[in-house]
Amino acid sequence: MDLKTAVTQLESRLDNEMKQYYGDSGRLGEAVLYSVLGGGKRIRGLLPWATSLMVEQDTPEHVFAASIALEMIHAYSLIHDDLPSMDDDDFRRGQPSNHKVYGEATAILAGDALLSDSFGFYVEKAKESLGPRQLAHAVALISQAIGSRGMVQGQSLDINWTDKKGQKINQSQLEQIHHLKTGKLFEISFKLGLIQKDPSTIEMFAPLATQFGLLFQIVDDYRDGADDFSQLGKTPGKDIEQGKSTYLTTKGKEQTLLEIKDIYEQCLGLIDQIDQKFSGDSSLLRNILQKVVSNIL
Ligand code: IPE
Ligand code: IPE
Ligand code: MG
Ligand code: MG
Ligand code: MG
Repeated sequence: MDLKTAVTQLESRLDNEMKQYYGDSGRLGEAVLYSVLGGGKRIRGLLPWATSLMVEQDTPEHVFAASIALEMIHAYSLIHDDLPSMDDDDFRRGQPSNHKVYGEATAILAGDALLSDSFGFYVEKAKESLGPRQLAHAVALISQAIGSRGMVQGQSLDINWTDKKGQKINQSQLEQIHHLKTGKLFEISFKLGLIQKDPSTIEMFAPLATQFGLLFQIVDDYRDGADDFSQLGKTPGKDIEQGKSTYLTTKGKEQTLLEIKDIYEQCLGLIDQIDQKFSGDSSLLRNILQKVVSNIL
């Protein structure tokens, strides 16, 4: 499946579901819709669909429930990441950040709403096509991926290091932050498309999910120093301005590019390996991977 078709279909579902969910929520709902429907590459939302397509022809409904829940969680993480007390970013997806439009208090609450509602939304929509044990397992995995053992811990370490101006982070500390703040959400995104499958199938995708997450954040670091506003949709050079430790600042441009190429090729090799085991369609996952490195490699 090509990327454009997949994004259009996912966004049409997202648009319907989110307008239904938040249509009556006043200013809070407006702030939520501003961010969750405000564009973006939709990569987390596409991933469960992409992994599901690799192992089965017809996509069960719970996979789309996961896609939407993941985009809700991702939107929450971006609203909070942009706050003045965090990365202090005025732009996101080519538009003013949520707090710039709705103020800090509403932006914090819009993030809180998206996070809380994502679980309820997922359970409501997935329960028709997932058994209660599998559903409970999926919810526990989502919680682990994004809480104090996952994304939020990564954000905490990221912010703590940013505050330690002048102190140099080492490579394994930086990779740990990348893995937690970004990789964990990608790992669960891969998994939620396969949640009904046997553990050996899920395991087969695990190294790919981890490498994909790392690649994604290294590319994000690289683009911060290489792309302009029209390409990024957020303020360029922000990491350096804030004294953030990133791949670019620790390894430099040339080395970062080499690593991007290396991990990208590892990801391709891992997809080839999985492809040999299943008769499904890997084109969407390949197209997503291609999108991550577009205009770089
Ligand atoms: C930005 O994610 C946050 C990171 C983890 C680097 P994306 O680059 O996927 O953001 P959108 O959804 O496309 O705006
Ligand atoms: C964001 O990482 C990670 C999360 C939101 C969890 P960044 O701070 O690098 O993302 P951008 O560059 O603002 O999109
Ligand atoms: Mg950040
Ligand atoms: Mg940021
Ligand atoms: Mg960044």
